[in-house]
Amino acid sequence: MCGIVGYIGKKEAYPVILEGLKRLEYRGYDSAGIVLYDGENLKLSKTKGKVLDLENKFAEEKSTNGSVGIGHTRWATHGIPNDVNSHPHYSNSGDLVIVHNGIIENYASIKQELLKRGYTFTSDTDTEVLINLIEDVKKNEKVKLGKAVQIALNQVVGAYAIAVFDKNKPNEIVVAKLGSPLAIGVGDGEFFIASDATPFLEYTKKAIYLEDEEMAIVRLKKGIKIRKIKDDSLVDPYIQELQLNLEQIVKGGYDHFMLKEIHEQPVAIKDTYRGRLLVKEGIIRMAGIDDNLERILNANRIIVIACGTSWHAGLVSEYIFEDLARIPVEVEYASEFRYRNPVITEKDVVIAISQSGETADTLAAIKLAKSKGAFVFGVCNVVGSSIARETHAGAYTHAGPEIGVASTKAFTTQITVLTLIALKLAKEKGTISKSEFQHHLQELELIPDKVEKALLQDEHIKKVAETYKDAKNCLYLGRGYNFPVALEGALKLKEISYIHAEGYPAAEMKHGPIALIDEQMPVFVIATKKGHYEKVVSNIEEIKSRSGKIIGIVTEGDVDVKNLADHVIEVPETIESLTPLLTTIPLQLLSYHIAVMLDKNVDQPRNLAKSVTVE
Ligand code: G6P
Repeated sequence: MCGIVGYIGKKEAYPVILEGLKRLEYRGYDSAGIVLYDGENLKLSKTKGKVLDLENKFAEEKSTNGSVGIGHTRWATHGIPNDVNSHPHYSNSGDLVIVHNGIIENYASIKQELLKRGYTFTSDTDTEVLINLIEDVKKNEKVKLGKAVQIALNQVVGAYAIAVFDKNKPNEIVVAKLGSPLAIGVGDGEFFIASDATPFLEYTKKAIYLEDEEMAIVRLKKGIKIRKIKDDSLVDPYIQELQLNLEQIVKGGYDHFMLKEIHEQPVAIKDTYRGRLLVKEGIIRMAGIDDNLERILNANRIIVIACGTSWHAGLVSEYIFEDLARIPVEVEYASEFRYRNPVITEKDVVIAISQSGETADTLAAIKLAKSKGAFVFGVCNVVGSSIARETHAGAYTHAGPEIGVASTKAFTTQITVLTLIALKLAKEKGTISKSEFQHHLQELELIPDKVEKALLQDEHIKKVAETYKDAKNCLYLGRGYNFPVALEGALKLKEISYIHAEGYPAAEMKHGPIALIDEQMPVFVIATKKGHYEKVVSNIEEIKSRSGKIIGIVTEGDVDVKNLADHVIEVPETIESLTPLLTTIPLQLLSYHIAVMLDKNVDQPRNLAKSVTVE
């Protein structure tokens, strides 16, 4: 969480940093700040609130000159979101200044030591402790800034991506990374620093991604020097050519990124299976699987690890893997898995799912699984992300940048990739007949058009949203493949509209949630023709006889649910294993419209962040 941006070059740094921070707000947006060096002085402005509030503050009180600076958009960990706790933070002398993404776990003991030595602190943050530790090392050891940063970082426990600036050495910015991401954009006589490459896309396509435990001194004239923090050894910079385009990270005429991303799903799903799903040839081609086929086929079981929406995609995959490929699957929250001493062996295959590829718990769970000898396969969206690099092999989802905090196209493209893997393994294992396999391929190829069709229900869904927007609680029910979709539907509503919602397997309703049902309770029931339809219809009867309001997500042409429900939303027909790719769509749109009607900040819901790089 938190986004950092830095600039050193010939341009005015302020607009570069400000616009960069706006692009990184998906990483946190409870406060923001920028410090600039104008050739003589440091000018720092920071505030609780969004980058827009910071912009207004700068407009009122500060000049914005300076061709070097660093900025930050925050998701609070230590210290509440307020002006004082916002970054950047000064050292006691006022010479050094820092922005930080991550957590310094042993900050309390370091702070005690520094207090004894006369240091004072204005904020409650771990970051202010770190910058004063750097200052203390610099003074006592009489070393340059880079060395002081290195010595200090060898004393801290935790995670960080930092940028540090010393007003007495205005031609350099020192950066370092452990756990949190950090990219350096290499321009013509200028350098950009950012948590991901989006802040500098329009200036350069050349980027260096620091590895964990690396630091870099970014010098205006002399260029970049990268070292290992632990042993001081030099690292050759590896400059990558970015494939991202600016058009991919703007709203493109939509009111919100979330809406844009919902509507991008037909194309995103197609992009995900392009080159992999070869219907005519009757094959699925996936290099990450092909190259490791024996290992994967000989696995005792698959353990899926993920968080949030990605965990829901993992749950869908449990059904597909077991149903089609007959491989036992366990789906684990990465945060639980990593701390409960799980039994893992070399015979296990772990699939780690992550949109951002940066989620701290998922990353740590991967490292644990690897240390026990398991083979780890990554399903990530962000190319070159930490998880993509940490895993033995993987498959990208190719959904394009997802900026709305509530995940949409990442979910459906994750399911697409996982379906391809399951089908491929099923074919290799012979657990699926040739004709059934071919039928799946054909149906999968039709999904983008069917998603497009599901999106045409938008106006109708808006009316349904209008009816239920004032609900205080909602229930989401589904069975089989659509149980995880019920969980995801409830999560979407919670995340962006702050309405309490629960997802349940439809048959579990009678073991508790049924007690909540009365005329105030909207119940969204996924009741598509394929997949225990009659059983779900019985569940709907049970809700109706307790006066609950029923909104059915049904297959086109449905009659039975229509007769019982208060509202229905139709999706096209497909085979059972692919229904989640369609039933998800109306639930995303419903949450979106309800949040807009309630005047909530759809793309930046309170307290959340898109990339959770703290545990
Ligand atoms: C955060 C986001 C969710 C996301 C989860 C896992 O909570 O707000 O949308 O599902 O992290 O993120 P990942 O990038 O690992 O998929």
